[in-house]
Amino acid sequence: MNKIPANEAKISDQAVTAFGNTPNPRLRQVLQGLVCHLHAFASEVELTEEEWLAGIRFLTDTGKLCDGVVRQEFILLSDVLGLSMLVDAINHRACEAATETTVFGPFYIAGMPERGQGENMAFSPGEPALVQGRVLDSAGQPIANALLDVWQTAENGMYSGQDTEQPLANLRGRYRTDGEGRFAIRTIIPVSYPIPTDGPVGRLLQASDRHPWRPAHLHFMVMAEGHRTLVTHLFNHDDPYLETDVVFGVKDSLKVVYQPCGADHPLAARYDFSGPFRLATYDFVLERA
Ligand code: BEZ
Ligand code: FE
Repeated sequence: MNKIPANEAKISDQAVTAFGNTPNPRLRQVLQGLVCHLHAFASEVELTEEEWLAGIRFLTDTGKLCDGVVRQEFILLSDVLGLSMLVDAINHRACEAATETTVFGPFYIAGMPERGQGENMAFSPGEPALVQGRVLDSAGQPIANALLDVWQTAENGMYSGQDTEQPLANLRGRYRTDGEGRFAIRTIIPVSYPIPTDGPVGRLLQASDRHPWRPAHLHFMVMAEGHRTLVTHLFNHDDPYLETDVVFGVKDSLKVVYQPCGADHPLAARYDFSGPFRLATYDFVLERA
């Protein structure tokens, strides 16, 4: 990069200094850092007026597509820029023993039905599966009565809410651990799916020759009294998009195998499987709050 001309450097200095009296010290730090890096970026790429206006239009379109319910294009933008995963990493540095975290995503819906041990949350077709395991504390002790809020897409790659043909509670539910910290979720095997591409984020991906796919996963938010809430996914271990997740969310420790089981498997009778099903087992470890 060429040396920044003195008049341009002066503009940047003035803008950073203008935020110097922000009474809240953290807000001051964030605002001054933002302005400083934004100016450095514009200087480095020598931003043209057309590019500046295209950026303004892009952000305007992004905002217009947010409805505050099922479409949050700004979160999607943060996700495909890798910013969501960077913020996640910054905020989960010091918890070696705990299960790793990943993106929350824009498709969570609060208040879904609380379901019994092993209850089916799938009301649309798919390959039957049971996801079971325990919730543990960082000393390996089981946590009873932990709440697991779970969501995934249907086989058509869409979440309920996004796809109005599905009942809202399809492939969503809240499960509690029993006295030994155990949970069991009857569902269908998750499938890979493209994030929405009909808006500015889709245009950005296309212009950058990036695909829009996320590897198959099941979302979890795991909560227990006295523990830090865990937001994570379990990824199908054999998904072709694991290496190139459009939102950079994959971690090796979150991959699970869905083992094939016959109708004669002891869990089939317990959870009402009349034919073959797949079984994935995973223990979540929560950090103390
Ligand atoms: C999701 O996994 O639901 C998701 C995450 C980031 C962007 C879009 C979707
Ligand atoms: Fe998802």
